[in-house]
Amino acid sequence: MSAKLIRGTEIRDEILKEIKGEVDRIKEEHGVVPGLVTILVGENPASVSYVTSKIRTAQSLGYKEVQDSQPEDIKEEDLLSLIDKYNKDDSIHGILVQLPLPKQIDEKKVLNTIDPDKDVDGFHPVNVGRLMIGGGEVKFPPCTPAGIQELIVRSGVETEGAEVVVVGRSNIVGKPIANILLQKAPGANATVTVAHTRTKDLAYHCKRADILVVAAGVPGLVKPEWIKPGACVIDVGVNRVGEKISEKTGKKIAILKGDVDFDKAKEIAGYITPVPGGVGPMTITMLMKNTLNSLKFHLGIA
Ligand code: GUN
Repeated sequence: MSAKLIRGTEIRDEILKEIKGEVDRIKEEHGVVPGLVTILVGENPASVSYVTSKIRTAQSLGYKEVQDSQPEDIKEEDLLSLIDKYNKDDSIHGILVQLPLPKQIDEKKVLNTIDPDKDVDGFHPVNVGRLMIGGGEVKFPPCTPAGIQELIVRSGVETEGAEVVVVGRSNIVGKPIANILLQKAPGANATVTVAHTRTKDLAYHCKRADILVVAAGVPGLVKPEWIKPGACVIDVGVNRVGEKISEKTGKKIAILKGDVDFDKAKEIAGYITPVPGGVGPMTITMLMKNTLNSLKFHLGIA
C-alpha cells in the first residue's frame, strides 16, 4: 500500500480529548457545561443506533444530555411545540432532531423551527446562509463536511490553491464541503469543482483532483484509474452491500463499502480514508464541537 491511511477514529479521539479539556476548563471558570437535546421520533433502528452513540459521546465529555424520545405518530404541531420548549431552555445549547422523520411531519418546517443559534446540525437556512457568506459569519458548519475538513487538515494535506473535486451535490455533504473548502481561510482557499450524476465526463474531473471528495452513495463509483497519483481521497460513501457475522459479538452486522474501490485506489492515492473508520466517526465528533461552540457563543468567549 502506498497511500497514507487517514484514520478517522484516531483523529476523532484527538479532537474529543481537546473538547473534554475545554469543557472541564469552562465548567471550572463559568460553572456551566454544554447542553444537548437529541429528539428521536419513532424507533427506526439506524436512528436509534446513531442517537445512542451521540448520547454516549456527549455523556463521556460531561455534557448535559437530554434524550427526548417521541412516538412515531406524534403530531407535527406537538413536535414543533417541543422544539420551541428547548429553544427557550437556557441550559440547552444544541438541539438535534434525528432524521428521517415520519411521513406526517414536514421535515423542512421542523428544521426551520429550531433556533438557528442552537442548530448544531447546521441545517437551518440561516446557518446555510452563514456558511455561504463565510468568515466570522459561520457558526455551525454541518458536521460531516466540517469533519472532512478536519481529516484533511490534520493529515497535513495542503488545501491552499489545491484542485478539489467533490462528487455529489447533497445539502448535507456535497454543497457544504464545497463551500467550506472554498472559504478565504486557513485549511481552505481551494479551487473547487462540484460534479454530480449529470456531469458529462466524471473521470476527467476526478483525474484533475488533488483532493477528491466522493459523496455519491454509489458503491465503487470512482475507479482507481480516475485517481491522480498522490491525491488525497476522501470517501464519504457508506453503502450496505451485505451482512456478515461479527467476530467480536457474534451478531449480524452490515458489510459496508465506500464509493471508491479502496483496495486498488490505495495503491495510487497519497492519502485515503477507509470505510468504515474514515469519515464516519467525524460526524458525531463535530456535533460535539458545534455544541461546545454554541455554549462559547452564549458565554461570549468564542
Ligand atoms: N440522520 C442521519 N444523519 C444525521 C445527522 O447528521 N443529523 C440528523 N439530525 N439526523 C441524521
